[in-house]
Amino acid sequence: MAGLWGGRFTKNTDDEVFAFNESFSFDHRLFDKDIEGSIAHVKMLAKQAVISDKERDDIIQGLKKIEDDVHSGEIAFLPEYEDVHSFVEAHLIKLIGDAGKKMHTGRSRNDQVALDMKLYVREEIGSIDALLCELQKALLDIIEANTGTYMPGFTHMQKAQPVTVAHHMGAYMEMFIRDRSRLKDIFARMNYCPLGSGALAGTTYPLDREYVAKELDFAGATRNSMDSVSDRDYVIELLSALSVIMMHLSRFSEEIIIWNSNEYRFVELDDAYSTGSSIMPQKKNPDIAELVRGKTGRVYGALMSMLTTMKGIPLAYNKDMQEDKEMTFDAIDTVKDCIHLFTGMIKTISFNKDQMAVSAMKGFTNATDAADYLVKKGVPFRDAHGIIGSLVLYCIDNDKAIEDCALDELKKISDVFDEDIYDAISLKTCVDKRTTKGGPAPDSMNEAIKYYRDHIK
Ligand code: ARG
Repeated sequence: MAGLWGGRFTKNTDDEVFAFNESFSFDHRLFDKDIEGSIAHVKMLAKQAVISDKERDDIIQGLKKIEDDVHSGEIAFLPEYEDVHSFVEAHLIKLIGDAGKKMHTGRSRNDQVALDMKLYVREEIGSIDALLCELQKALLDIIEANTGTYMPGFTHMQKAQPVTVAHHMGAYMEMFIRDRSRLKDIFARMNYCPLGSGALAGTTYPLDREYVAKELDFAGATRNSMDSVSDRDYVIELLSALSVIMMHLSRFSEEIIIWNSNEYRFVELDDAYSTGSSIMPQKKNPDIAELVRGKTGRVYGALMSMLTTMKGIPLAYNKDMQEDKEMTFDAIDTVKDCIHLFTGMIKTISFNKDQMAVSAMKGFTNATDAADYLVKKGVPFRDAHGIIGSLVLYCIDNDKAIEDCALDELKKISDVFDEDIYDAISLKTCVDKRTTKGGPAPDSMNEAIKYYRDHIK
């Protein structure tokens, strides 16, 4: 098939070449965007008297009919077209004849595909943002209900200091706030319309590019036509933001997997969000969390792939850029599914509060507070650190917690200890006294919760 380029060629494209070259099998996803862009383009052509009003109306009617027919199944995406742009044009000409041949005036597939892809990415940024907002709402419910649910906080996977479930979840809330702000930045930076850049060097037709930009809700038209047809930065930025989202979901998943293990039993996953084993009847596996963690790899892959595709491309458009689509589509689908499923999973998760509190008390998570107790009684911090270190060693040897030691046992290690030590190192004190901004104390968390509520609104 010589298709679109007719005159210059005396032979049809080799079948294998056609199959290798075509993008219709995947860029048909841009169909609605292609129609939307074409309608804006022909409106502008008529306004600028490049085509007549009658031709504009015929073309727009034709495009709308094709859109309806595709949606109703009347027209199928048959593999005989090279890409979505040639598919639409061929059907338009079939439908309305000569006027259809004027649609592509002052336009190239290079600025056309740049536009379609931007329209698509722009819309998907909105959907991903909305999904993240749903996830944040689910998270906020957990946070609000758990400002008093104690759990151990970890460093190096070793119990460190007690925190609350609300505080721990607040950390993920912050990550998703940053994720959404990254999406917003990308949107603002990419929101300029490339149409009217032509193949690379603009056109001699009196196009009104700002008009088209406005019709399509862009902030304006792009400034440099060569950049416009070859810029895929926004795709890379999106894939990078999606990779960070997946990294966050993957860390969260990893924690849920650990908390769901027999050793921890911090959480119980809802039956609807877990799976069993074909052989071991006792199993209840956290497959959703594992898959989210696993799928992070393919989203990173899309980012690496796109960066690599772009790195050697001279100006302006080159066919390499067609490779932007499949991986972007796949990454977007993957991230949307992951956020959605993950949200369902955490909406239905339950926390074993007693188990978490018991765990929070073990492992000398109050050792820092015991040292701080001595400091408040005048012992220099470094000495206090040493004293509590010996106390911990004594406790390990005697298989007990600090608060299990009688006062005379404590006094043998330092006579500064008094009755008030027990209150100073209780789980409640350890958490409730950490009132610094960003800390786990209910007062600090309530400040954060106010912010989260506002943010989600
Ligand atoms: N299918 C192409 C792409 O996705 C459309 C642009 C084709 N332009 C060209 N000069 N062959 O990039």
